[in-house]
Amino acid sequence: MVDNNMKQIAAEHAVKYVQDGMKIGLGTGSTAYFAIMKIGELVQSGLRIQAVATSKASERLAIEQGIPLSPIEQVRRLDMTIDGADELDGQLRLIKGGGGALLREKITAFHSERLVIVADESKSVSRLGAFPLPVEIIPFAYEWTVEALIELGCSVRIRRAEGGGSYFTDNGNLIADCQFELMDEPEEIAARLSRIPGVVEHGLFVGMADQAIIGCHDGTVRMVQARERSGKIVFDS
Ligand code: 5RP
Repeated sequence: MVDNNMKQIAAEHAVKYVQDGMKIGLGTGSTAYFAIMKIGELVQSGLRIQAVATSKASERLAIEQGIPLSPIEQVRRLDMTIDGADELDGQLRLIKGGGGALLREKITAFHSERLVIVADESKSVSRLGAFPLPVEIIPFAYEWTVEALIELGCSVRIRRAEGGGSYFTDNGNLIADCQFELMDEPEEIAARLSRIPGVVEHGLFVGMADQAIIGCHDGTVRMVQARERSGKIVFDS
């Protein structure tokens, strides 16, 4: 089974949780694409939801599919966001931002009751870090910000746009793709990144995802679920 089928299976499985009246966050990327398409299909058959998009690209797709989008100020909290990931581990720690939308994705996830991650099985790893960590940085004095990132022990590439020149996010910022060693303590790296002025946000999502739905080669889905047990978060798969 090719990656796209695995992505579609995972995304469409997640959409089964979408119910009438919900407020839904629409993720970004080639896996979230399938979720948006399926939600669009359901909306055309009568499902009533309100949605918020995590990028201009997903907003355009939602409009094309007839999914009603709400202005942010009219939504207090989202019931669920369905989004992709570049890597996820067994504790539902994620690297996101391969598509450059990590800031809006993180804001949207933070204001959601549930963050459901959809991915093909190639994204599931035992340790994060093979995928370069996207970090959104302010263009002003970005060379200094890059120096500070390098001091954390990674190599850094400023992302380029497909047609040449710098890549700019939907928020007018740059993306520094940071190649670390495989991470023992993603939480520690996340904390250190957040202390650097000029870093707007980073693509480590720690303690945010509630569930992952992973599309597998054999056409099945594998679930990883965060649950609270005796005051601790445990991860069942
Ligand atoms: C965009 C993201 C995406 O969710 C991530 O890059 C995964 O994308 P895809 O589903 O295309 O592999 O974080 O900023």
